[in-house]
Amino acid sequence: MHRYSQITIAIHWLTVALVVVAWFTAVGGRHARTDPSYVHFTVGLAVLLLVIPRLLARRLGAAPRIEDPQNPWLDLAARAGHTLLYVLLIALPLSGWYAASRLGVPVSFLGVGLPSLTAAVQGAPGEIADLHETAGTLILWLAGLHALIALWHQFVLKDRTLERMNPMAPSDLSGNHR
Ligand code: HEM
Ligand code: HEM
Repeated sequence: MHRYSQITIAIHWLTVALVVVAWFTAVGGRHARTDPSYVHFTVGLAVLLLVIPRLLARRLGAAPRIEDPQNPWLDLAARAGHTLLYVLLIALPLSGWYAASRLGVPVSFLGVGLPSLTAAVQGAPGEIADLHETAGTLILWLAGLHALIALWHQFVLKDRTLERMNPMAPSDLSGNHR
């Protein structure tokens, strides 16, 4: 059995928690300008920050190879789904930062002020802000589907997929990477 490195596993579960908190603390409409949620900004930017070491760890070979994939199409679908999740983990915080800049709301991360990504406007913040809102909900649906598929692998196909992301599972990463 091959699993992800401890650093990747830790970042995976921390990211899950941050995305859920970002979703619950999100405010849209009028309140986004008058009463913005700084917790939303902070946890959302933490997601962006964590994606960097995660992708680096992946690049350095921390993604275990699927042993004997049952179906190449399913393997391809899994890769496409994971890629889309990564795209959202990057695009969501950036589009949120852009939306806040359009709204004229200052953005900071743990007390450090960040520059505006664009000039503020008076009216609606525009399409990127709309996209941010839609993508914010899409990631939860996609992650829910992703979790269901992982559970199906674990309990129906019994191929121990879940253990690949389990920090407690016995480790025998032997250098096989996909
Ligand atoms: C994983 C990260 C994030 C998720 C899942 C997420 C999710 C969401 C969702 C679902 C909404 C819509 C809320 C509603 O309509 O009631 C929203 C709005 C918003 N978010 Fe995020 N967000 C994330 C990161 C960020 C970041 C990093 C920032 C800023 C630095 C940000 C700034 C905003 C702003 C300004 C709005 C209001 C947009 C508008 O009203 O047009 N978000 N977010
Ligand atoms: C916001 C929620 C989530 C996000 C954004 C997310 C994201 C990801 C991504 C991007 C990968 C691919 C890792 C790589 O190969 O580099 C992954 C793998 C994985 N995730 Fe999640 N995930 C979420 C929630 C969950 C949940 C709730 C579960 C458990 C039920 C789960 C179980 C797994 C497992 C087992 C893998 C390894 C799959 C494999 O190697 O084929 N994830 N996740």
